[in-house]
Amino acid sequence: MSVVAPPDDFAAALPHPARVVAMHDEAEDTRTFVLGLATPVPALDAARPGQFVMLSLLGHGEAAFTLAHLPCAGAAPGTVTLTVRRVGALTGAFFACEVGASVGVRGPFGRGFPQDGADRPTLYVAGGCGLAPLRSAIDAQLRARAAGTPVAILYGARTPGSRILRASLAGWRVQPDVALFETVEEAAPGWHGRTGVVTELVAAAVAAVGAERAALCGPPGMLRSAAAALAAAGLAPGAIHVALERYMKCGTGLCGHCYVNDRDVCSDGPVFSYGELLALPDAFGPADSAFG
Ligand SMILES: Cc1cc2nc3c(=O)[nH]c(=O)nc-3n(C[C@H](O)[C@H](O)[C@H](O)COP(=O)(O)OP(=O)(O)OC[C@H]3O[C@@H](n4cnc5c(N)ncnc54)[C@H](O)[C@@H]3O)c2cc1C
Ligand code: FES
Repeated sequence: MSVVAPPDDFAAALPHPARVVAMHDEAEDTRTFVLGLATPVPALDAARPGQFVMLSLLGHGEAAFTLAHLPCAGAAPGTVTLTVRRVGALTGAFFACEVGASVGVRGPFGRGFPQDGADRPTLYVAGGCGLAPLRSAIDAQLRARAAGTPVAILYGARTPGSRILRASLAGWRVQPDVALFETVEEAAPGWHGRTGVVTELVAAAVAAVGAERAALCGPPGMLRSAAAALAAAGLAPGAIHVALERYMKCGTGLCGHCYVNDRDVCSDGPVFSYGELLALPDAFGPADSAFG
């Protein structure tokens, strides 16, 4: 049996105590939680869009969640914002928490979206709950971009009722030089927008802003087809960045739970370029995803 050495700074791997300070429902099964850290954690304040934390609830274990709002995107330092879909034991227990409840937060972990390029025309493509991990990337670019840099956001939800981050969507819709494309797979009474899947709109969204790069998050099938559509629309594979999702335990590259072929999603990703993913045959599995 091989022995794995603990990280150099073992204390840094322990959860930071935090409390739920605010929450609001996004959709029937999705809620945004704002956590207040008990003491300042500079690494969390400096975290980048696409990075994630391991959230722990006493008696319920730990799971990975992407930082949905960050100081670089306008969030208050000392807070951690997570948008969570209720799918199982830990998320169920989190939804049962009241304001004031104690939780633990390890991180930030992983490689996020590229930090440069705020002045390049960019397309964000999100499916379902995958809009949450892109929120901080979008807000950070809108704050940092030079005036006139066009940004497109393409968001697909299952139904009108499952659309999340509606306040952010409404805010982005009225920003200058932002093109927002929304679609739902199944329309409902009162929905006057598009019906269909996001992939059908990729070429139009690329053309609308002359996109030179793209960032994607969503269920695996959507990621596979949208990344291929972006490449077909002329974007270089190295300019398409995809946030992957796998079951995680350690979050730090030690346990091997999150392997995709020869890469650890937690420490080599979770954000990979499409060029990197083309070399990983299992990149877009499994078929189900918490981001659906
Ligand atoms: C880097 C990363 C970032 C994430 N960010 C978010 C986020 O911002 N918001 C959010 O809601 N979730 C996010 N997730 C997913 C979240 O970690 C899982 O949904 C987690 O397993 C929930 O724990 P649970 O105990 O409630 O459910 P579990 O009991 O662990 O899962 C319940 C069911 O959900 C499905 N499922 C859960 N996770 C996965 C998975 N990774 N792959 C395939 N199927 C799965 C399975 O069908 C499973 O049976 C992220 C995951 C990763 C790896
Ligand atoms: S979660 Fe342990 S190696 Fe990635």
